[in-house]
Amino acid sequence: MALFPRREKAPEADLEHLPRHIAIIMDGNGRWAKQRGLPRTAGHAAGAETFRTVATFAKDIGLEYLTVYAFSTENWKRPPEEVQAIMGLLEKYLHEAIGRMARDRVKMAFFGDLTPLAPKLQALCHETEEISRGYDGCQVNICLNYGGRDEIVRAARAFALDCAEGRADPNHLTEERFGNYLYSAGVPDPDLIIRPSGEVRLSNFLPWQSAYAEFYFTDVLWPDFSKEELLRAIAVYQHRSRRYGGV
Ligand code: IPE
Ligand code: IPE
Ligand code: MG
Repeated sequence: MALFPRREKAPEADLEHLPRHIAIIMDGNGRWAKQRGLPRTAGHAAGAETFRTVATFAKDIGLEYLTVYAFSTENWKRPPEEVQAIMGLLEKYLHEAIGRMARDRVKMAFFGDLTPLAPKLQALCHETEEISRGYDGCQVNICLNYGGRDEIVRAARAFALDCAEGRADPNHLTEERFGNYLYSAGVPDPDLIIRPSGEVRLSNFLPWQSAYAEFYFTDVLWPDFSKEELLRAIAVYQHRSRRYGGV
């Protein structure tokens, strides 16, 4: 499935010419746990650990933007205990991140509607964003209760409201202006989208922003993803030819 089978030697990643923005669908936690006879929540805990490792590595190599899919608008369909466990891991991570922020200078942002989350978690998300607003290191965007179609509908609604109240004119709507109504306003589109776990679909992740992204799919389950896997994906990306419709 991976474009470079795992045993085959992958080309070296060129760290001087990184993509600006990498986005990752952190998938496969449940299957990782199942393989080990563990509860799905153990897979989420292992996945959270991988996220720590990969985000730190991305910062260390000088990546500008990392966007991760942590919880989708569709993931509420899961058993409440599982949702609870994911939210708990996120809370734990944010507490740690706040403690480390001044040193790491990582800027954190959230894409998604945070209002259905527990008030304590919402407050933590806002606090994280607030503290790191001025930082200039890697920007990590966490997609939380995020759905790409939901994002587009919300943007359309906000734009329509601006038109109705005289702040915007539909005749002057451009792709760029519409982009400013999205959660990702001000963030360049992802250059590379990685999906581990063997699934070859977007699952409602960044449909607007991925219009010209390069995709990298691998069978590796997210808890087994590593720095080496990230470098492999970057190397594969660096061998692609992006034409944007030109020649
Ligand atoms: C991704 O892993 C984590 C979330 C969707 C929150 P999954 O829990 O979807 O793992 P699989 O796909 O069942 O293996
Ligand atoms: C996508 O994974 C969402 C996240 C990784 C947060 P899912 O496991 O929810 O996607 P499907 O159900 O396989 O499409
Ligand atoms: Mg999944």
